[in-house]
Amino acid sequence: MRSPSRWATIAGVTEIRVLSDESQYRAHNTLFRRAMHWGPPTDEQWKVTLPSYEPGRVHAAFEGDEMIGTTQSYGGSMVVPGGAVVPHSAVSRVGVRADYTRRGVLSALMREQLSTLPDPVATLRASEGRIYGRFGYGLAGRVRFLRVDARRAVIPGGPTGRVRMVDLDTADKLLPELHTAFGLGRPGQISRWPGWWAKALDRKSDGDNIVTVVHSGPDGDDGYVSYKASSDTDFKHTLQVVDFAWANADAWRDLWIYLTRLDLVGTVEVDAALDDPLTWLFDDPRAVHTKDVFDQVWLRLVDVPRMLAARTYGVAEPVVLEVHDRLLPANTGCYRVSADGAERVEARPDITIPVDLLGAVYFGDTRFSDLAAVRRIEGARFGDADALFASPVAPLCSTFF
Ligand SMILES: CC(C)(COP(=O)(O)OP(=O)(O)OC[C@H]1O[C@@H](n2cnc3c(N)ncnc32)[C@H](O)[C@@H]1OP(=O)(O)O)[C@@H](O)C(=O)NCCC(=O)NCCS
Repeated sequence: MRSPSRWATIAGVTEIRVLSDESQYRAHNTLFRRAMHWGPPTDEQWKVTLPSYEPGRVHAAFEGDEMIGTTQSYGGSMVVPGGAVVPHSAVSRVGVRADYTRRGVLSALMREQLSTLPDPVATLRASEGRIYGRFGYGLAGRVRFLRVDARRAVIPGGPTGRVRMVDLDTADKLLPELHTAFGLGRPGQISRWPGWWAKALDRKSDGDNIVTVVHSGPDGDDGYVSYKASSDTDFKHTLQVVDFAWANADAWRDLWIYLTRLDLVGTVEVDAALDDPLTWLFDDPRAVHTKDVFDQVWLRLVDVPRMLAARTYGVAEPVVLEVHDRLLPANTGCYRVSADGAERVEARPDITIPVDLLGAVYFGDTRFSDLAAVRRIEGARFGDADALFASPVAPLCSTFF
């Protein structure tokens, strides 16, 4: 096992250890939950949480024998622009004990975690927008929170396939298979680890109020949606879509026909990609309201050369990017990006960019020219860089962690 690393922090000497047994995992979970102002896990909650602790991926900060901070990651894979799938770390459960905050404990945890992550890219969800840029994470993907007015949501024509309701046991068996088969259709989508499903499929905390329907077309099962209804006294429930995946446009359309024709439902709420065409599905475009757009994927390029080579690029004149990475200096250097791909070069740069902002432009959700307009990056030929990094499909990550 790797020996602990020591970091000088204002808290004193902070030791970062890799945890390996269940009692430590439970203490880790309790500390994280307290940092989020939640109570410790109950025995029931712990049963479904334990499988998400993967050996080798769980870090904790200690002062002496006292645990004072946590982070961990889940291993899997992620889709990049062009459709390639790369190994991915989903970073989560970041917390520092409230009596130790702002003394560098998170910084020690992040540095240690970054230097040991086994995958070329990591993403996380941030509780605050100002925390993670300094560790090289950039805001790479946003999501739209939509409310669909079911009374206005008339979809011309009928369904082409069949939608069937499945019981919980069937859903538990089917959903992981179906998600693997067609849940990775966009840049930013990630595969789900067994511990994720263990928690998601535990319906007890929702009073078994989650319903799943599966769509089948000519080639078999090709879509599903899980939803739950808010309790409402005037028989106009709000449905919250909690999981939605489809293999083709017919399955997507038929599942929306199902959702908007349910009795006693006034509103359907769903998280969707910025370019989701839902507005155009209904004959009244005012059926869909964007209630919010918020940041979703914070992306850290851990291995810059590998990640630049993994995605495809648009058509434009090549540009040379000079990348700076304070925490992982092996990434610092110049990269020539062209329609044919990306490679490390010794050449005069067109654009100088820190690694967090390279993360921000990686999916094409943010443009180089926008970052240049606010003086966050320097150089020239931003239009070519925009065209190279543009993606015809907006990113989305429908797997919350
Ligand atoms: C967020 C949290 C992990 C930060 O831990 P910490 O040990 O206080 O962080 P550090 O002392 O290493 O701070 C590193 C830097 O980030 C800044 N920072 C830390 N937390 C911040 C926050 N919530 N908002 C803005 N900046 C923050 C610090 O000011 C510091 O900046 P500096 O280097 O310029 O001085 C901790 O406050 C916490 O557990 N919060 C509640 C749970 C939570 O939000 N977890 C994150 C889930 S994604």
